[in-house]
Amino acid sequence: MKALILAGGLGTRLRPFTETMPKQLIPIANQPVLEHVLVNLRALGVREICVVVGAWGPDIAARIGDGSRFGARITYLTQQRPLGLAHCVAIARPFLGDDDFVMYLGDNVVQDGIAGPAEEFRARRSDAHLVVARVADPRAFGVAELDARGRVRRLVEKPRLPLSDLALIGVYFFRPAIHRAVAAISPSARGELEITDAVQWLVDRGGPVTAGEYTGYWKDTGRVEDVLDCNRRLLDSLDRGVHGTVDAASRLTGPVHIAPGATVLRSVITGPVIVGPGSRVEDCRIGPGTSIGGDCVLRGTELENSIVMDGAWVTDRTGASDLLIGRSMRIGSGPPPEPLPTELAANGARTGGTR
Ligand code: DAU
Repeated sequence: MKALILAGGLGTRLRPFTETMPKQLIPIANQPVLEHVLVNLRALGVREICVVVGAWGPDIAARIGDGSRFGARITYLTQQRPLGLAHCVAIARPFLGDDDFVMYLGDNVVQDGIAGPAEEFRARRSDAHLVVARVADPRAFGVAELDARGRVRRLVEKPRLPLSDLALIGVYFFRPAIHRAVAAISPSARGELEITDAVQWLVDRGGPVTAGEYTGYWKDTGRVEDVLDCNRRLLDSLDRGVHGTVDAASRLTGPVHIAPGATVLRSVITGPVIVGPGSRVEDCRIGPGTSIGGDCVLRGTELENSIVMDGAWVTDRTGASDLLIGRSMRIGSGPPPEPLPTELAANGARTGGTR
């Protein structure tokens, strides 16, 4: 089976962050959303992957690479304008050929992986197999109406009056029959070729279209509150370990991961918290649900339930929470950190090992 990852689009709901980076590279537990997607595809044994990108294509390719880190070969395909999910399938046809494939939205995190739905797809031999999850407010999603045997009767994209509470999560399994459907549909009122319309076309012609309910944790990371929720959730399964330097005046409790080259001085950190390589945390109180990227500086700051992206500085903030702090952003001022005293490691600092 091949995979088609959709990582184009404009990310308008995540502005201003998406003015400087694509939403698919926003770090969750210090790993871009797109890498969480690739980890799930690796677990499925997918070897050939096409990533559809928009204007951020070069940044995405620079970060993700040729796929060898994920046991796959990645082809990047540029979509000039975000003309819809089914449009992505259409332009990827030369890559997809007549193979079965999984289409995976590059801004979705599916914590338990997709091996279960892939198995259902194989077993049911449907033209399309969708993955659905119950949500409190289905109006922001594609919504499916199913019969008692899990066959799809009707699909509607972002309905004002939802037919059910079953939202499409961003993972779809297809046989090549989908290409005929994509070629047959027209753009919707919002000007996009909708994958829901293509799948409905198959349903209307009697093609077997099924859906399975996913009950694990899943998030479309389209809004800041979703990104923070997802970060908190993924940090819960964090590997604890101190691989950097922590001085004797600091206290770490709960699952805390300090990456190699990170330094913590005179601070209290209550996990789950991850601190990325090369970061400095001085005179801070860092609370649960916080991811600090690489090469950040946090000084005299209280912060919890937040994401600090690579290269950001935060100084002299108290009582801060629920923040998404962008790459290389400066909050507060002050001089760069002093070089680390050479005697620190010998004088009570903990480096390496796990506490
Ligand atoms: O997250 C699940 C929802 O994702 C589904 O329930 C909806 O049925 C589905 O349409 C989709 O809705 P969104 O509004 O969240 O889609 P979004 O525009 O965020 O696009 C999803 C991903 O696909 C994202 O990584 C950007 C990419 N994309 C999107 C479009 C429209 C492209 O690569 N090209 C495009 O033309």
